[in-house]
Amino acid sequence: MRDHSIQTGPVDLKDVWASLNSQGYALTDDREMGLSRRFPDEFRQMHFNKYILRHDQGDRPADRLRARDVVRYWRHDGGLSLQEHETITITDRADIPGKRDHSRVRLLSDPQARKLICTFLQLVPPSRRKPEGTFGLNLFRTFTNIVTQPHHDQEEFIIVYVLTRIGGGAETYLYEPDGVAETGDPIAEPVLRHQLDKGEILIFEDKLFKHGATPLRNPSGGTAMRDALVCTVDHRGTYLAESAATSSAALPRTKAG
Ligand SMILES: [Fe+2]
Repeated sequence: MRDHSIQTGPVDLKDVWASLNSQGYALTDDREMGLSRRFPDEFRQMHFNKYILRHDQGDRPADRLRARDVVRYWRHDGGLSLQEHETITITDRADIPGKRDHSRVRLLSDPQARKLICTFLQLVPPSRRKPEGTFGLNLFRTFTNIVTQPHHDQEEFIIVYVLTRIGGGAETYLYEPDGVAETGDPIAEPVLRHQLDKGEILIFEDKLFKHGATPLRNPSGGTAMRDALVCTVDHRGTYLAESAATSSAALPRTKAG
């Protein structure tokens, strides 16, 4: 039975879709997406805590705390059906060989998170949407470095949503792929360099840019910290290729509007 509590409402996304189609990225914010003014604080209270976030050995930057959820989605005329994907294990990514597991958070039990997922999946231009797939949600709490160097995530679209930021720096950047040397050092000007404030959202097409962010800077007398959600509209190979034979037969258990 459809859960009407997560209807996304009549949000006009034409400008976001036009920017994505013409320049490969778009900036917006949570209020324009129809999310509550309280969303960032409530989401952080519920999910950015010591029971969910953790640092995993070998993960970089070395002081970054994180958690992940992966949601399976099916699009249909009336909206979306969602269910928790069976695994969040990711293989051979971020220059770290082998399989990696991070702390798992199961966000579909939170109605506000379900609304967020539906809203973010609507950011994908209609002509680019797949009938089904997986959507990754990464919760990142950083204090110093945010990433190691400009990189691709090897997914279709990336959505960065900043929930809070204490301190300066943390300027998100996008480079054309050949604007970054093999060493990771930029050799051209970025296409975009923007310090995302609380509530701001950046969506971009992953293959068009190498992305990253500059380090945080402590405020005077304080300690910098940034909480962000980095979501991915995944390629099929990330989570579904191995189970393709069974996934088309799998029935969605949870529906969203
Ligand atoms: Fe990334």
